[in-house]
Amino acid sequence: MRKPFLAGNWKMNLDRARSLALAKSLREKCGSRTDREVAVCPPFVYLDEIVRALAGSKIRVGAQNCSDEVEGAFTGEISARMLKDVGVSLVVLGHSERRHLYGESDALINRKVRQALVAGLDVILCVGELLAERDQGVTEHVVSRQLTKGLEGVDEPDLARVTIAYEPVWAIGTGRTASPEQAGEVHTYLRGVLAGLYTDATAATVRIQYGGSVKPDNISSLMAAPNVDGALVGGAALKLESFLPIVEYK
Ligand code: 13P
Repeated sequence: MRKPFLAGNWKMNLDRARSLALAKSLREKCGSRTDREVAVCPPFVYLDEIVRALAGSKIRVGAQNCSDEVEGAFTGEISARMLKDVGVSLVVLGHSERRHLYGESDALINRKVRQALVAGLDVILCVGELLAERDQGVTEHVVSRQLTKGLEGVDEPDLARVTIAYEPVWAIGTGRTASPEQAGEVHTYLRGVLAGLYTDATAATVRIQYGGSVKPDNISSLMAAPNVDGALVGGAALKLESFLPIVEYK
């Protein structure tokens, strides 16, 4: 049974006071839920404080990126080991904003995935097609490539620490959500790709989140779609009033 996994990607939003207030409110309202997994992914500079604010609760703290290197002269980078050191337990990698705004390649993302796993972090590996790619009918080709290359060298036991997030780029921050049917189709396809890379049994254990304009009013129908095991939420994760109903979807 795959436990629903609802994660908030705060991106480059909120300030110190508002980050902390949101974390504390979430702790109070859903910090002891065990029937679903909840995570927040604040900007790097607030991670340490938020880890401490959520210590002892069930809410996990994730980073939004990490370096593909272990340590050394890499100005401006943050290593997976440093994230682990401050109590972060997971990292979002391959987000479409990293791929498309900062030119991250599948190979770079794969090196980050492997660094994160070696450092003991769990990974949310994001995949998703551009609108033009969907229109050209190459969605499956694109997400299959991103998934396969992203997981290169990741062995079966480590896959237990990986969540996949399907985030169609055309649905991110646009208010245009993929329909439950569209999400379900791609999620089912992705599980098939995982089964080909590993085994059916292992693929069946991996959670696949949907991301892209997830809101309180569409979470239930998305979660009801086949192979949708959670959500990676952007804009609606920035406020308690919108993130809490997503966490508490029925
Ligand atoms: P929105 O929920 O704002 O569309 O963002 C989705 C996302 O990119 C989460 O990682």
